Amino acid sequence: MMHARRREGRYQVSDPDLFNLPFASEEFRSMPYRRLGHSGLQASAIGIGTWKFGDPASGDGSRVGGEAAQQLLDCAYDLGVTFWDTAGRYNNASGNSERVLGQWIDRNRRVRRDIVIATKVFPLMDGLTPNHYGTSRTNVIESVYASLDRLRTDYVDVLYLHMWDESSDIEEALCAVDDLVRADLVRYMGVSNFSAEQISRLLEVTQHGEFSRCRPAVVQNQFDILRGELGEFGGKGVLELCAATPPSFVAWSPLAGGLISDRYLDPALASSGDRLVDEGRLDALCTSEHIRKLRRLGELANEVDVGITELALAFMLAIDGMGPVIAAVSSRDQLRANASAAKLCLSRAQLSAIAEAAGFEGPIADNNGDCWENR
Ligand SMILES: NC(=O)c1ccc[n+]([C@@H]2O[C@H](COP(=O)([O-])OP(=O)(O)OC[C@H]3O[C@@H](n4cnc5c(N)ncnc54)[C@H](OP(=O)(O)O)[C@@H]3O)[C@@H](O)[C@H]2O)c1
Repeated sequence: MMHARRREGRYQVSDPDLFNLPFASEEFRSMPYRRLGHSGLQASAIGIGTWKFGDPASGDGSRVGGEAAQQLLDCAYDLGVTFWDTAGRYNNASGNSERVLGQWIDRNRRVRRDIVIATKVFPLMDGLTPNHYGTSRTNVIESVYASLDRLRTDYVDVLYLHMWDESSDIEEALCAVDDLVRADLVRYMGVSNFSAEQISRLLEVTQHGEFSRCRPAVVQNQFDILRGELGEFGGKGVLELCAATPPSFVAWSPLAGGLISDRYLDPALASSGDRLVDEGRLDALCTSEHIRKLRRLGELANEVDVGITELALAFMLAIDGMGPVIAAVSSRDQLRANASAAKLCLSRAQLSAIAEAAGFEGPIADNNGDCWENR
């Protein structure tokens, strides 16, 4: 049996700021929260993706590091953006995204419990043998120990299996996660880049009995409103499945790396420092069809006096089955704009117009939102 270490979460000091709290809360610092799938865990409607947080000077391929990354996390906490997405593997398998979060946790140990941290296990990491890969018992458990060290925390709130592993049985992964949950090193499980068929199988296996602690609360697959779900990462139909049955859908790359913003309306103006330019993806993503859709979205955004990004994020939060949105950011202004999307009220007519402009055909939630119901 594994034993949890306790580095944090000691409530010995009486804190007058916490006197006279209301009986319950549905938000934190005005940021609405939403429940993750069937679980009781709640996460901020706008989260933050930290794939590009790391140590740029080391050549790990990250974009934001050092003091800038810490300031962004401080700002996120101030805004109630407390659902933080990472993976050991991010930035060339350096582990540096997790280390950045770990530095913040170390400075803010007293509020560790205010943050919902999600990390992932699967691709080759921390070593070169075949046993440093996949969802075998060995790799799942060793990966979590390594992540906890980098994150400088006692537990992760959500552990995703980053991909379906053909080289080991899913039951073996579930056994390992179940042990981690029982030892309180992991609180909830999620999966990423799984197909609708794989998720359905997992939901069946974990419905009752020995694997019920591993019932996935979240599925993290690619989705953005211009392209929908792309075939290569779990494929289509997963969002629809999540609308019908929990888990919650958490979209990765919800802004298509920044395409869904005002900044690429004229791609000729994009330059070094813009992520799509830096990553060599400008031509592939700035197609005439995408630019046409973005211009129409820009008109709709103007009508409500926000940018395209806020409009898109607010729209995503109204999609049936959609959980929190974890856009990445490289500045505090972007973070503030994205956080504000959680409070943007869009009428049914506005939601329909956005869906049409983006070419999105899925259902919009009737009662999934924070401010659009009854409008
Ligand atoms: N599970 C998986 O396999 C998987 C795969 C990929 C990503 N993910 C997760 O998903 C997260 C988000 O995806 P992503 O990193 O690809 O990025 P994204 O959220 O699609 O795009 C983020 C980029 O958009 C730009 N941006 C953000 N807010 C903006 C605003 N308000 N106005 C204008 N531009 C704005 C920034 O570009 P600039 O940097 O150019 O300013 C930022 O880097 C990742 O960080 C990671 O946590 C998971």
